[in-house]
Amino acid sequence: MEPQQGQGKPHLPPPSLWPIGFAIGIVCILVGLIVSWPAAAVGVAVTVVFGFLWVRDVTGGYRRRDIGTEPAVGGPESATEGAPAIPADRGEAAMPEPAPGERFPRSVFLEGATLGLGSVIAGIVTVPIVGFSIAPVFQHVHHDEIDLGPISNFKEGQYVVTTFLRDPSEGEISRRTAYIRNNGFLDNKPSFTVLSNRCAHLGCPVQPNGPMFDKQKLEETTKTGDVTLIPALPAGGFGCPCHGGQYDQEGNRTAGPPVRALDRYEFYIRNGRLAVGRTYSVSHVDGAGASAKIHKYKETGPGQHVDGPEQWFYPLQPPS
Ligand code: FES
Repeated sequence: MEPQQGQGKPHLPPPSLWPIGFAIGIVCILVGLIVSWPAAAVGVAVTVVFGFLWVRDVTGGYRRRDIGTEPAVGGPESATEGAPAIPADRGEAAMPEPAPGERFPRSVFLEGATLGLGSVIAGIVTVPIVGFSIAPVFQHVHHDEIDLGPISNFKEGQYVVTTFLRDPSEGEISRRTAYIRNNGFLDNKPSFTVLSNRCAHLGCPVQPNGPMFDKQKLEETTKTGDVTLIPALPAGGFGCPCHGGQYDQEGNRTAGPPVRALDRYEFYIRNGRLAVGRTYSVSHVDGAGASAKIHKYKETGPGQHVDGPEQWFYPLQPPS
């Protein structure tokens, strides 16, 4: 006798859209890690919701079978609304009876293998990205202040080409150059402009477009190493010898290939002495001197946009 249609076949879950939503959530998380935390948070929410619905869908058959309420599907004994419940020992089996010696039906194995493989692939993709993102939080990053000497060494309104040891423990190899201008006082506090000499195009050292007064060179020995100070008059701003990038006296890009303004150093006044700390990136500066409005960003590499739509095209920066 021919078996009836549906008999002897496993009852597989119907096609579902939840995996697609889950995948979209994962993509949102990855894009969010690069672009912005709110986007990543939305991705997490989407992933959790669709993941829950997917797991619920996949495991629905087991849960129904466990509580013995699964209605028969197809066949002459399908349950109808209002009809008395079909006894658990009647109707079509949800899953085929395992063959003698078979411990798990093949469909269970395939479902488990699919979920397991998907989890492994998702882990391989996401763990390095998440690690890159949160590692800086747990890293003890040294940003010691570098003492540059008394602020009286910096004449108001004049740029001083200042070299110092970025990391005294590394010696001369860590020597850096900054263009520092004393802007006078703002709200009774000393104000300084401290420009990095690293070009915002590819990192070449920019130079003052104007004379440097070497004969007035000062040398200071501070607790963080030797400091040299040479007054300069960059009337034409600063220029890069590599590809012709040009900046004005506030560090704003005025010509050439650089994509943003010059980076700056944070500065501190300690007992009448000037100290510099970590560097940060700047898209542009409005105004000048003590009253300038600095559009400040986390330090990024040369050539990288920090604002506008172009910033979306840059990958995560490795921890530095
Ligand atoms: S590195 Fe300065 S313009 Fe290219």
